[in-house]
Amino acid sequence: MGTGENSLSSASISNDLGTRFVGQRVICHPRLASTMEMARQEARLGAVEGTVVVAGEQTGGRGRMGRVWLSPQGNISLSIILYPDLAHLPSLIMLASLAVVHAIEAVSGLKAQIGWPNDVLIGGKKVCGILVESNVRGGTVAHAVIGIGMNVNLRAADFPEISSIATSLSDEVGGEVSLAGMIRQLLVDIERLYLDLQAGGSVYQEWRDSLVTLGKKVVANSSGISYEGIAESVGEDGGLLLRCSDGSLIKVIAADVTLHG
Ligand code: BTN
Repeated sequence: MGTGENSLSSASISNDLGTRFVGQRVICHPRLASTMEMARQEARLGAVEGTVVVAGEQTGGRGRMGRVWLSPQGNISLSIILYPDLAHLPSLIMLASLAVVHAIEAVSGLKAQIGWPNDVLIGGKKVCGILVESNVRGGTVAHAVIGIGMNVNLRAADFPEISSIATSLSDEVGGEVSLAGMIRQLLVDIERLYLDLQAGGSVYQEWRDSLVTLGKKVVANSSGISYEGIAESVGEDGGLLLRCSDGSLIKVIAADVTLHG
């Protein structure tokens, strides 16, 4: 998968990875409809925790709020299966976006930030999207899947539908970036943060401090309704507190947030 030197295989990701479980089992396919679907099926079959599904490209990549996610070759499209405690579920979004920020910095030296709730941005343009899906039954998490789509070796200018709002690592560094290297770094950091969470640590403060959104005037679109206000703070559950122009404070849980002006 991938081209030439930059090809992906299960072994190129998991060999000598040094993790306890995340990425110890990697299922790699050159092309999938969506890694979310395969990961969900694997989880239902009882896949070992930390199983990763990677696709060279996706033909039906899914984004947040029912959107299509562009997933050509050269990008990272992967899903990770976890079985967290219910109490840790809201932290998975924070944990995943922080791990992406760390991995981008470690591999490329680029400084990335988070647009609430979990868009990873470089210079205000989106470089990575994260989708967390879970199945909760009777107060326990049957499974959770973290989906990560990162624009790595992609010329954003070649895709008019995203070129004004998105960037890629290769666009930013001016050269090709190792896909396996980036995935490995990402998996190591996800496991580190996840183990820390289980040991009583929290990702909340670092996530909050990495948000570009706070203090800015924003428009939040939630279920077809637009709310305008100042992004005042975020709760430990990940919710965004918006101070509206009439002085009221509203909490937004799932929305699309754009900076105003
Ligand atoms: C977003 O809308 O910002 C989230 C995008 C998440 C995309 C990733 S790519 C790997 C995984 N498979 C999918 O179909 N979606 C997620």
